[in-house]
Amino acid sequence: MVVSPVENQDGIAFVEGEYLPISEAKIPILDWGFLRSDANQDTISVWKGIFFRLEDHLDRFERNVAKLRMICPYNRSQIRSIMRECVRRCGFSDAYIQIIATRGIPPSGVRDPRRCQNRFYAFCLPYVWIATAEQQQNGLKLIVSSIQRIPATSVDPTLKHYHWLDFEMALFEAYEQGGDTVVLVDQNACVTEGPGFNLFMVNSGAVITPKNGVLDGMTRQTLFELCSELNVPCEQKAIPVSQLIGADEIFLSSTAGGLLPVTSVNEHTIGKGVPGPISQRLRKQYWKKRESGWHGTPV
Ligand SMILES: Cc1ncc(COP(=O)(O)O)c(C=O)c1O
Repeated sequence: MVVSPVENQDGIAFVEGEYLPISEAKIPILDWGFLRSDANQDTISVWKGIFFRLEDHLDRFERNVAKLRMICPYNRSQIRSIMRECVRRCGFSDAYIQIIATRGIPPSGVRDPRRCQNRFYAFCLPYVWIATAEQQQNGLKLIVSSIQRIPATSVDPTLKHYHWLDFEMALFEAYEQGGDTVVLVDQNACVTEGPGFNLFMVNSGAVITPKNGVLDGMTRQTLFELCSELNVPCEQKAIPVSQLIGADEIFLSSTAGGLLPVTSVNEHTIGKGVPGPISQRLRKQYWKKRESGWHGTPV
């Protein structure tokens, strides 16, 4: 199908070998990706026409597809071409691309996941921010949910999966309490991550982020590299909620927005109630380096 520029402006999807305007893209109802959340995805950003950490994302995607015992119908070089084609057809210079492998559909009447024909989908949207411009400027109001994150012993958090009911219900809870977003805890009352982001805190000049029970976020990895470059000590270890509340600074990390500062947790103000100096330095460096093409692959 030839997609006109007007149809492109909301995004493009790749479904069953075809490029479609995003509003026309549909998932077959019997795909277990839909019926059972049996899927793995990866989300990649393009900024000023440059993919960020493209090969690292593809490594993570392939690793997770293998963990789920799926066989993706497209190889790495084909996936790269599909992503490029989606972005080109949209014409976006700043874009958000999701690639998805699903269990697919079994033969009629079969309930054995080994018999499913695995599927691949992709779509491209204008760049997505998980915080508004004002929230990025002033900091987000974070709520610690009463809902526990699905345990790592049940669903591996290093998969990029769609088991999001815990996040979704926690968001309802956070909005009811006047928060902008939410972080979930584990069985030891330590913080994990939130809907689409990893979490960091700063304590006496040192950056800390949870070691276990979280996605190995690409932005998280990027912040480790930036901390090392800026000589900011950075450690991965458990963060009890009680410690988070007393943090000097808190920030979130995501492909959808980079580093996002937090200025309150529940009813507690963090630091001086404005984005802190380490958060600001890291955020500035993140965008400066991205704009210079760091870890970049031109579309
Ligand atoms: C649960 C979860 N944690 C963390 C992240 C951040 O990962 P990345 O930096 O790779 O976007 C995401 C991104 O979607 C996520 O869904």
